[in-house]
Amino acid sequence: MAASGRLYWFGNAAKARIVAEIMARPGPLTIFDYGAGTGGDWPEILRERPDFRLVCYEPHAPSVRRLEERLQGLKAEVHAGDAIATLAVQADVIVSFSVLAQVYDRPAYFAHAARCLAPGGVFYLNYDDGHFRQKLDLNTPGAWVGPLKEHLGNLGGRLWARLGRESWHQRPAAAAEVEALAKGAGLKVTSTRYENLASLKALAKTVPPEKQQAFARFWIETETRLNADFAEAAGGETNLWREMGSRTTTLVRA
Ligand SMILES: C[S@@+](CC[C@H](N)C(=O)[O-])C[C@H]1O[C@@H](n2cnc3c(N)ncnc32)[C@H](O)[C@@H]1O
Repeated sequence: MAASGRLYWFGNAAKARIVAEIMARPGPLTIFDYGAGTGGDWPEILRERPDFRLVCYEPHAPSVRRLEERLQGLKAEVHAGDAIATLAVQADVIVSFSVLAQVYDRPAYFAHAARCLAPGGVFYLNYDDGHFRQKLDLNTPGAWVGPLKEHLGNLGGRLWARLGRESWHQRPAAAAEVEALAKGAGLKVTSTRYENLASLKALAKTVPPEKQQAFARFWIETETRLNADFAEAAGGETNLWREMGSRTTTLVRA
């Protein structure tokens, strides 16, 4: 946990837990965020931990601009476009949050991550399935537009990518596919964890700011116990995956 004890990335228990594990480590650390988007809570984290160096890669140009603005003046660098092919970082920690479903060329993504991971480093590969699980509340038809649009986007995801729109790509990732791709890139799985129980994720949206730290702690502890003590009793990984749409596979060099 952070020196301040503060948890970051409220609203997503997987990201909050992974960042807490990283914050618990002594610095200096080089962290590579692979598919950083607009940067989440990194600006606050880097202010708390000046012994961290953050290297980001993000392919989406509007996100890159926002990311650069948000990280200005901090120990961070942003790489974009084709830079991933030659990025020479050797990271102690790689995080890739909610990225894999959007990745079109998955073997290349794994190969780049493996190349950027220092010997002894750890790669937190976190991927979400929630957006492939659209549900319609029959009592509120007015709220159907968002889920239906997302569903149609998902259906067209593979086709768009084949037609050259790689940034619109969406495809669920299966655990077996991840393991095979990791192995092919010279990486090995050291743990798999399921997070973001749907009802707790929904409830988190209603928690007022002054209760968020306590709620995040409760949420992470609850899911730690579900994974450690009750996975088998609940029907194993398949059932955890059905109820918790976020999987984190931890990888190291094989
Ligand atoms: C759902 S967003 C998550 C952003 C950020 N990681 C977060 O958790 O807030 C997915 C990100 O993956 C990026 N992305 C898509 N394909 C990628 C690829 N091949 N390599 C790296 N990032 C990619 C997208 O541009 C987008 O910013």
